[in-house]
Amino acid sequence: MEKMPYRDGEVLVDMKAAVAGAEAVTTTSDWRQALPVLTGSMATLRELRLSDAPSLLAMLSTEEVSRFISPPPTTVEGFERFIAWTHRERTAGNYACFAVVPHGMDSAIGIIQVRQLEPGFATAEWGFAIGSGFWGTGVFLDGAKMVVDFAFDVVGAHRLEARAAVANGRGNGALRKIGAVQEGVLRKSFLRNGEYLDQTLWTILDDDWRRSRSAGGARIH
Ligand SMILES: CC(C)(COP(=O)(O)OP(=O)(O)OC[C@H]1O[C@@H](n2cnc3c(N)ncnc32)[C@H](O)[C@@H]1OP(=O)(O)O)[C@@H](O)C(=O)NCCC(=O)NCCS
Repeated sequence: MEKMPYRDGEVLVDMKAAVAGAEAVTTTSDWRQALPVLTGSMATLRELRLSDAPSLLAMLSTEEVSRFISPPPTTVEGFERFIAWTHRERTAGNYACFAVVPHGMDSAIGIIQVRQLEPGFATAEWGFAIGSGFWGTGVFLDGAKMVVDFAFDVVGAHRLEARAAVANGRGNGALRKIGAVQEGVLRKSFLRNGEYLDQTLWTILDDDWRRSRSAGGARIH
């Protein structure tokens, strides 16, 4: 498949240095070589490391977390293979997967991922899962906002889609809260445990997101 030119911003500014009043450190960086480290009020997002595998297995393989998502790996080795795959797909420019690491911790308690739905990443799809001990804490919203910023400002997507099983109350609630717009229901679109489930299609557009961000809110409508 022929590669489309990307229109991502390639300059990342070290905000910590800027906030500290020090001279801003400008790093020329391409997310396909290495993901930026994104620092929020509750969590840091960074590239997955092979050493995250045991923590991700413990966090994501429980029944309540995996109920409405594609089955995660069931072993540490399986997660290591997944992590290696995320690095290859990032290098190819198809996909980015961030580890969610709450402040004060070292290991990932979840992931937020973005993949292109067409060459060039104009339309992208995101997905996420965090350990149930962190549900309702605000860690997801903190990380999610940074990934939406990343998808629009760094990767250059203009439309970000998410699919959540209609029966997934928290998944749909989290997308509604961040300001995604419900565009429709994809009937019997997701096979889980031998059953086809309906999914809600949620979208965020870059213009809406930027307008909302400059107005200072998470909601875009
Ligand atoms: C999706 C996920 C990352 C969201 O993180 P979270 O910390 O649970 O999200 P939040 O608590 O910030 O937001 C969820 C919202 O849904 C609401 N909610 C919870 N159960 C609900 C239900 N049954 N129906 C409607 N809304 C519901 C919550 O009240 C909350 O809104 P509020 O903060 O305004 O009260 C997390 O739940 C998760 O990992 N789930 C398992 C994996 C998954 O399903 N991923 C989504 C695939 S689309």
